[in-house]
Amino acid sequence: MSLKFISAQEAASLVKHNDNVGFSGFTHAGCPKVVPIEIAKLAEAEHAKGNPFKIGMFTGASTGEAIDGYLARANAVKFRTPYQTNKDMRNAINKLEHEPVPYFDMHLSLLAQELRYGFLGNVDVAIVEACDVTEDGQIVPTTGVGISPTVCRLAKIVIVELNKQVPAKLRGIHDLCELQDPPHRSPIGISSPQDRIGKEYIQVDPTKIYVVETNVESDGGGFAPVDEVTAKIGENVANFFVSEMKNGRIPADFLPIQSGVGNIANAVLAAMGSNDEIPKFNVYTEVIQDAVIELIRKGKIKFASGCSLTVSNEELLKVFADLDFFKDKIVLRPSELSNNPEIVRRLGIIGINTAIEVDVFGNINSTHIMGTNMMNGIGGSGDFTRSAYMSIFVTPSTAKNGDISAIVPKVSHEDHSEHSVKIVVSEYGVADLRGKSPRQRAKEIIENCAHPDYREQLWDYVKLQEKGHTPQNIYACYEFHREFMEKKSMKGADFKKFEK
Ligand code: COA
Repeated sequence: MSLKFISAQEAASLVKHNDNVGFSGFTHAGCPKVVPIEIAKLAEAEHAKGNPFKIGMFTGASTGEAIDGYLARANAVKFRTPYQTNKDMRNAINKLEHEPVPYFDMHLSLLAQELRYGFLGNVDVAIVEACDVTEDGQIVPTTGVGISPTVCRLAKIVIVELNKQVPAKLRGIHDLCELQDPPHRSPIGISSPQDRIGKEYIQVDPTKIYVVETNVESDGGGFAPVDEVTAKIGENVANFFVSEMKNGRIPADFLPIQSGVGNIANAVLAAMGSNDEIPKFNVYTEVIQDAVIELIRKGKIKFASGCSLTVSNEELLKVFADLDFFKDKIVLRPSELSNNPEIVRRLGIIGINTAIEVDVFGNINSTHIMGTNMMNGIGGSGDFTRSAYMSIFVTPSTAKNGDISAIVPKVSHEDHSEHSVKIVVSEYGVADLRGKSPRQRAKEIIENCAHPDYREQLWDYVKLQEKGHTPQNIYACYEFHREFMEKKSMKGADFKKFEK
C-alpha cells in the first residue's frame, strides 16, 4: 500500500483534546519538530473559541523547544512525564508561569513498560521523527529513540515526521525492540555493549501511518566550555580511576562507563580521554555527547551504546558525513535497553551522575531546588545508580557564587540513597564511602568534598548528635536551607545554637 502524505496542519488535526501523545526522541535528539508546533497553534485557536484543548505527554526524556516550549506556552498540557529541561515547561510544572502542568517524574527505563502494563492510560497518537519510512511500515528513527517502539505499537495513529536533514543511511545504527512483559520476560541478550538484540527499524502497521515531510535542523546548541571547576572534577574522577586500577578494584581492561548529561559529564570524559593510564574503554550510557564522539575518533572509546546522539549541530553534521566510520562504533537503543538495570548490573557499568546536593551521609538530591521546585527530573540516574558496579556522584562544592553549599546536613529531597552511592567527587577531591559508617562517611565528605568555607559549619552539625547510628539532628538539619531562604546565603548558618 502507498503511504499517506499529509501537511503538518492536517497531522495536528488528527490529535484531539484529551488525547495522550507519545513523542519520539531523547533530549532534543530525534524529536519531532513541526507537528507539535501546529498542535500548540490548534490548542490556542480552540482556547480562543472558549473550547478546552490539552494533551497528555509521554516523551523519551527532555525534548526540543518545538514540543515542551510551544505546548507549555499554549497551555496545552494535560500531564507530562518523564524528564524535562525546558524553561517554560519547568515554570508550568512549578506553577510559576502558564497554567500548572501535572508532572510525574519517572525512571526513564520504566516508562515503556509502564505504558505497556496500562499503568498510565492509553497512547492515542504517536508522533515520531524518522529518516526513512517504507510502504510496508518500517520506520527508521533519527538520532534519539526513547520510547518510540512502544508508542508506535500502542498508538492508533502514528504521525511520522520524515526529516530530510537526516540521511536515510543512518539505517543500521539502531537496535530496536520491546522487551516481553512478565511473566514471559527472558534474560536480555546483551552481554557486551556491542551486542544487538533488535531490528534496524520499528515495524508498524502501515495503515495507521501518516507522513509529514520536514526539513528542519536539530536544536543542538552545544555545551558551555569546560571551566576550572568542572575540569578539576574531571581530573579527580580520572585520577581516582587510575588509583582503583592500581589497587585491582577496576579490571585492567576497564569497565563500561555511563556518564550523565551536561558539562560535567563532558569534562569527566575529556579528563579520562587525556589520561594515558586509563586504557581504551567502552561506553554504555543514556546520552552520547560530544566528548564521546571526540574520543571515538581518537580511538580512546572503542564502542558507545546509548539512547540518543545528543551532540552539537556542528558535530552531528560531521558524524553524518562520516557514517561509514561511526556505524560499527555506535548503537542507539530504546531507553528500556540503554538504561536497563539488568544490563547495568551484568556489564558492571561504572555510573557517573551529577548531584544538585549531597548530604554528609551520601544521600543525593538530583531533582529539586530547596526541596520544592523541580529542576529536570531523575532521568536515567536512578536506572544506573542502583545497579552500577560503582556509583559515582559529581558536583561542584558550591552553587550561586558560593552562597549555597552543595554539601548539606540533610538533602532537601532524596533521589538516591546512601545505600547506592559509593563515591562523591567535587573539585576539592574524592569521598570514598564504601564500607564506611554514617559518621565515617560524614568525615570523608566534609574533609574531601565540601568547600573549605563550609567545613566548620558541617562539623558543628555532625557534632550536635553524639549518640545514635546516624548523627542526624532533626531540629537543625535544614538550617542551611532556612538560612538561604531567609538571607540568600548559607554562610551565616549557626549550628552551635542547637547545642544542648
Ligand atoms: N541548590 C540550589 N540550586 C542549585 C544547587 C543547589 N545545591 N546546585 C545547583 N543549583 C542550581 C544552579 O545554580 C543552576 O541554576 P540556574 O539554572 O539558575 O543557573 C541550576 O541549579 C542547574 O545547575 P547546573 O550546575 O547548571 O547544573 P547541570 O547542568 O550540571 O545539571 C543536574 C545538574 C543535577 C540538574 C542535572 O545533571 C540533572 O538533571 N540530573 C538528573 C538526571 C540525570 O542525572 N541524568 C543523567 C542520567 S543518564
